[in-house]
Amino acid sequence: MCGITGYIGSREAAPILIEGLRKLEYRGYDSSGIALLRGNTMSVHKKKGRVSVLADEIQNHPFHATTGISHTRWATHGGVTDANAHPHVSSDGDFAMVHNGIIENYEYIRNFLLGQGYTFSSQTDSEALVNLISYHYNKRTGENTPNRFLEAVRKALLHVEGTYGIAVISRLAPGEIIAARKGSPLLIGVGKNEMLISSDVLGFAGRANNVIYLDDGQVASITPDNCDIITIGNKQIECEIKEIDWALENADLGNYSHYMEKEIYEQPKALEDAIRGRISDDNSTAVLSGLNMSPNELRQIDRILFCACGTAWHACLVAEYLIEKYARIPVEVEYASEFRYRSAPLDKNTLVFVISQSGETIDTLEALRESKRKGFRTLAITNSVGSTISRESDGGLYQYAGKEVGVASTKAFTSQVIICLLIALYMGRMRDLSFPDGKEIVAAIKSVPQIASKVLELAPMIKETAKKYSKYDDFLFLGRLSEFPVALEGALKLKEISYIHAEGYPAAEMKHGPIALVCPECPTVIFANSEDILPKLVSNAQEIKARKGPLIAVTDSPKAFEGIADDIIELPKVHDSIKPIIATIPVQLLAYYVAIERGCDVDKPRNLAKAVTVE
Ligand code: M6R
Repeated sequence: MCGITGYIGSREAAPILIEGLRKLEYRGYDSSGIALLRGNTMSVHKKKGRVSVLADEIQNHPFHATTGISHTRWATHGGVTDANAHPHVSSDGDFAMVHNGIIENYEYIRNFLLGQGYTFSSQTDSEALVNLISYHYNKRTGENTPNRFLEAVRKALLHVEGTYGIAVISRLAPGEIIAARKGSPLLIGVGKNEMLISSDVLGFAGRANNVIYLDDGQVASITPDNCDIITIGNKQIECEIKEIDWALENADLGNYSHYMEKEIYEQPKALEDAIRGRISDDNSTAVLSGLNMSPNELRQIDRILFCACGTAWHACLVAEYLIEKYARIPVEVEYASEFRYRSAPLDKNTLVFVISQSGETIDTLEALRESKRKGFRTLAITNSVGSTISRESDGGLYQYAGKEVGVASTKAFTSQVIICLLIALYMGRMRDLSFPDGKEIVAAIKSVPQIASKVLELAPMIKETAKKYSKYDDFLFLGRLSEFPVALEGALKLKEISYIHAEGYPAAEMKHGPIALVCPECPTVIFANSEDILPKLVSNAQEIKARKGPLIAVTDSPKAFEGIADDIIELPKVHDSIKPIIATIPVQLLAYYVAIERGCDVDKPRNLAKAVTVE
């Protein structure tokens, strides 16, 4: 949610900042801006629109500087205008700041500053903070304060309620950038006699191999060859420099048209990487040392709570089916944003799992913190090595799915589900799941990458189907058991990238209301891969047909839908445990091709951003 880049060194800053913004554009893309500093002169440009608009503007107004900050925005407070774009400049013109997050008490700060003679030119919360920094800097006039700039930022932040990742420059202190974070990720890339700042490691690609992760409540003073970190409470912090594993961060589009397409096709590899080294054939179980819990501790668990948002929440719902079925442990699934604010009673032997592709989603992070605060063991499944969630959890499992750039999550979902299946297998084998049953699941898990490749071969057929259905504005998605979350995920994919209204339901629930929507203008996608309940699903399909609803069946029993469904996407027959993974791939493709048909911007859907770091 919003991208920040910063540079201080000896090279021309503008091209480096623009390059970084392009890499971060998937985090927010409604407007962008840059502030450059040469000696005591500052140059600021901000433009509504994509980063390319800003890049053109900079070309037309070249300004040579070796220090600068920049931002690509996802609007929270204030509409999408040039004035509301970042950086924001204090009304005295001395400070420029880029900000991710929300300053909750900005009105109070703004009113105070108006009384002090400051003026405002945007409707943003951020502008209050940059003026407050100026206020604290000027309050110390005449004092011989060492680190006056750093101190002004620190003092201002003491008065801020809300979340922030910020980078600030000042024409009164040209040799440094001040960065700080609370609730919004911020990283410092360490180069040779140069430093970079970014809200995502991707912003450093090709520029730095080492990184310092700022933690919440930390403020850094960054010069070309040094980084001093203190806490907001003014305690010195030792800088820890870590090496970036670029193999996990590769984000080249290659020959694909969109990241979403690329990531759909990367699923066989992502699934392979998720299970690599995590299976014991000898014991027909999983090997999950990342959980940091002994078998004895795991056997004490009476209940598991899963928290996440969006697609990751759908993965949690699949986990509920898998873990309850194979490990016989009661599972509950909560929206992370709800869990945080309600008083859910948790038994003492509850294990909490959070799932987050980005590892930065604020709602999920706060759910993790809340459960830790309450003393629960909290584990994470995340795709982002070094992310805040990975660092703050007690243990967990990395997905190793490779960078996911497409705003619509695809490979992250299937890889989260396979990891949940590994957990179900592992915890099941500690309890009642027999060796032969475990062996069947192990074989199924190992077969997933290859089956996923086979299902991807359906793409040309699904593309044709998409052409036929792209004209509709409403869709229903129906599934039962572990394919109910797949129905939710299919509906989410379609609405995110093609702006079609789509709803997912448990198939049998349809009769309790949603059937009122069924008509020739509202197609239904029905998942039917469970033999036990196939007749029930066929009946649901008949009910749709009787009401003249167009119907697509995603099924491994195509014969059962002949003469009922208008289109059939035939899936291979696979073990029950992996059905939700296999059934998801065709609807990702369907959503992708429908969006293309409708001329939508697949990788940058309106109103969305990849990592949601505001509440
Ligand atoms: O990074 P996270 O997995 O925590 O993200 C959670 C949701 O914001 C995310 O899954 C969102 O729903 C996607 N746009 C879905 O495609």
